[in-house]
Amino acid sequence: MTTVVTDNCLACRFTDCVTVCPVACFHYDDDMLYIDPDVCIDCSACIVECPVKAIYEGDDLPEDKIQWIEINAEKSAVLPVCEAKMEPLAGADARKTALGF
Ligand code: F3S
Repeated sequence: MTTVVTDNCLACRFTDCVTVCPVACFHYDDDMLYIDPDVCIDCSACIVECPVKAIYEGDDLPEDKIQWIEINAEKSAVLPVCEAKMEPLAGADARKTALGF
């Protein structure tokens, strides 16, 4: 089972996770990041880095987030690799507060 980015990343995209990834498995669009399950080595280093707790081990996904396994696989296959930290999205800090972090 792979590691998965979920909806808390949407409209945040803090990219702290990318700075600790040893294999460049993160891909991005204008909204968030996605993990390529064929590249991720399940080291879990990114999970604790996310300030909005958007990343889960696949086995630990809450029931209402299971669909993100497929979304990460599909999106990462067609999007560019995120190789370095980017500026968070506009409004990311407000969304972080709204999410309770
Ligand atoms: Fe998203 Fe968290 Fe990474 S907000 S970009 S999963 S640090």
